[in-house]
Amino acid sequence: MKPEVIVALDFDSREKALKLVREVGDFISHYKVGLELFSREGIEIVRELSNQGKKVFLDLKYHDIPNTVKSAAKVAVESGVWMYNVHALGGYDFLRHIAEFNREYADKLGLNRPLLIAVTILTSMSDEDLKSVGIPSAVEDEVLRLSELARKAGLDGVVCSAKEVRTIKENLGEDFLTVTPGIRPVWASKDDQKRITTPKEAKKIGTDYIVIGRPITRAENPRSAAERILEEINS
Ligand code: C5P
Repeated sequence: MKPEVIVALDFDSREKALKLVREVGDFISHYKVGLELFSREGIEIVRELSNQGKKVFLDLKYHDIPNTVKSAAKVAVESGVWMYNVHALGGYDFLRHIAEFNREYADKLGLNRPLLIAVTILTSMSDEDLKSVGIPSAVEDEVLRLSELARKAGLDGVVCSAKEVRTIKENLGEDFLTVTPGIRPVWASKDDQKRITTPKEAKKIGTDYIVIGRPITRAENPRSAAERILEEINS
């Protein structure tokens, strides 16, 4: 099924995260562990979910010198993550180095190679913000440039907004993966997301994965919220 739903486990404890996973049950197999949960619980929660057969997207957006990121990526690969990400702003050599390491190390351990995804420009940044850090181009041009760099370096795809999916796929190929947050079913609260896309629209534009947090994690009945979202995608 495309897009596949990844539920963002934005919780402050292992217990709350695991409770949600239990409640949602068989409906969802992909979960995102981000900075909050990781800072609280460390790699243990990732191992625990992987051992339960869940596919974990470790969203730590690595950005450091290649050697340091390699050491962190090592832990991600060993822990059986399904997907993790790095900042494309680390540059071509950095990206290529990590992509090669990711492949070789997973092979060496006899594990499935995790998908390696690039973060381009954070959606919280505007053209003005880019200028202020010395990047004169518009956000959308920079997103495409960094996506091209990531593809050339051998990464599997990018995290991007729904608005960017078509441009990226048209320029880099349908098989270059897109992971899209900012998704809200019509019945859910927008929370702090400004530009939102429904699961149905996300399917229409052809994104591969959608990241959904609060509409499921903060729902009165997370299981039926997940079910409604999957129905919307399949209808
Ligand atoms: O609760 P909600 O559905 O808004 O959660 C979306 C998840 O996707 C959060 O974990 C958030 O950090 C992440 N995300 C986002 N927008 C981006 C990149 C990541 O909402 N541009």
